[in-house]
Amino acid sequence: MVSDEDPLLMTTNSLTKVCLLADIPHNDMRCVSLSDRNVLVANTDSGVYVADEMCTHEDARLCDGNLSGTKVKCPLHGSRFDLVTGKVLDDPANVDLITYPVTIVDDTIYITTDQH
Ligand code: FES
Repeated sequence: MVSDEDPLLMTTNSLTKVCLLADIPHNDMRCVSLSDRNVLVANTDSGVYVADEMCTHEDARLCDGNLSGTKVKCPLHGSRFDLVTGKVLDDPANVDLITYPVTIVDDTIYITTDQH
C-alpha cells in the first residue's frame, strides 16, 4: 500500500507556487519565472490559465503578444493558442502549447507539474 508520504508519489505530481492572483491584472497576462520553467499566466473572465511562455514556433514570449478572451496571439508571426486546451489555432506554429492545471488557494496561484 502506498501512503501519502511515499517520496515517489510526492515527486510524481506536485503543486508549484506561481504568483499571487493580484499580480495579474484582470484580462491581462504576465510571464513568470519559476525555478525550473518560465510560464505565462493569464487572468481571464473564464478563469486563470497557465502555459509555457514560449511560442512553439520560434523564440517569442507569448506574454509580449495579445490576449483576447482565452486566446493568446504570438507577437512574432501571429499564431494564436487557446489557453484552455493549449491548442494551436493558426499557422505558422503547428505544435500545441503545454498548459498546466491551476489551483488557487488563498489568492495564490499554483500549478500542477509532472516531475517524471
Ligand atoms: S514565433 Fe510565434 S508564431 Fe512564430
